Amino acid sequence: MKQVAILISGGGSNMIRLLESMEQPGHPARPCLVLSNDPAAGGLVRAAARGVAVATVDHRPFGRDRAAFEAEMQHVLEAHGAEILCLAGFMRILTPGFVARWQGRMINIHPSLLPKYRGLHTHARVLEAGDGEHGCTVHEVTPELDDGPILGQGRVPVEPGDTPESLAARVLEMEHRLYPAVLRRYAAGEREPVTFP
Ligand code: GRF
Repeated sequence: MKQVAILISGGGSNMIRLLESMEQPGHPARPCLVLSNDPAAGGLVRAAARGVAVATVDHRPFGRDRAAFEAEMQHVLEAHGAEILCLAGFMRILTPGFVARWQGRMINIHPSLLPKYRGLHTHARVLEAGDGEHGCTVHEVTPELDDGPILGQGRVPVEPGDTPESLAARVLEMEHRLYPAVLRRYAAGEREPVTFP
């Protein structure tokens, strides 16, 4: 049974779907911790309400010393026996040192069809470009931002009249389907990419 820690910075809608998925019979993983860099992250309350251990490592006291912040996160992760990390709306850039320790055991969801649209504001950029489709990607985390082996992708249409908000909502629904499907396979050691629809 793989022990999964989920890292969040905000509301944690993806984290909730991952928790729900791991409650299903036969799932090869269970949640050991929900960790946030922001003590005010709404996802912490939602996770605690489901009986999952939560912790905060506030990045602000560490200032620019990313390594010290990550060393504290590492301590908390080890204390909870984490074996797989799921980044879910985690908004801190991780140093190559931290990534090296977890590479091959750390995955992330990004709101675009990578390798297109790495970085932020993906929905506005897709509309700007006039693309007909958009989506989300779950990938293994490597030192290069939003790069790394793709484990799953979910495609959604761009509709006429879409705004960044309406498109983001459609992509988020797909994220909520894709991430649990990928984690279930990933925790079982399967690496064959998942594609939706
Ligand atoms: C989502 O758009 C996701 O793609 C990105 O963070 C956003 C918020 O996710 N990683 P959540 O609702 O906090 O899971």
